[in-house]
Amino acid sequence: MCMQSFRVEIKNRCWVEASFKLDEYKNVLSVDWHAQGSFDLIQECEKFFKLALQKNLESLSVVGVKTAQLMLNELLDKAKGVYKSVDDIEICHCRKINRSEIIDAILLGAHTPEKVKKWTTASSGCGTCRSDVDKLINELIKRDVSKS
Ligand code: FES
Repeated sequence: MCMQSFRVEIKNRCWVEASFKLDEYKNVLSVDWHAQGSFDLIQECEKFFKLALQKNLESLSVVGVKTAQLMLNELLDKAKGVYKSVDDIEICHCRKINRSEIIDAILLGAHTPEKVKKWTTASSGCGTCRSDVDKLINELIKRDVSKS
């Protein structure tokens, strides 16, 4: 039996923390979770963590592209050990926009390059970072759409 804790956060907006108590086969025995954010986020957390009980951690997934669903998927990736941690590098050099700012915008609903541009100003200069913005959107959104 082991206890593992994970956290997902959109800076200055919302966060979810969860401690999973797992048996030796990674079945979820209990989840102690806390969250702060929108009503939708709290509701999605309640629904998801209730469903997670007695299930195998590896079999869990969250389908959908709402902020809460994307955050829970990131939390699950961390719990499964498949989360790709990368440096928070500057993606848009013209506007000085870091990777984390673009990811936060995508999590909050900027699911197109145009919206990311409008919300963050990334790719509103020379445009050379546009492919990196597209790639981040695809990583976060498209993989989830393919599950549904
Ligand atoms: S590097 Fe992003 S617009 Fe130029």
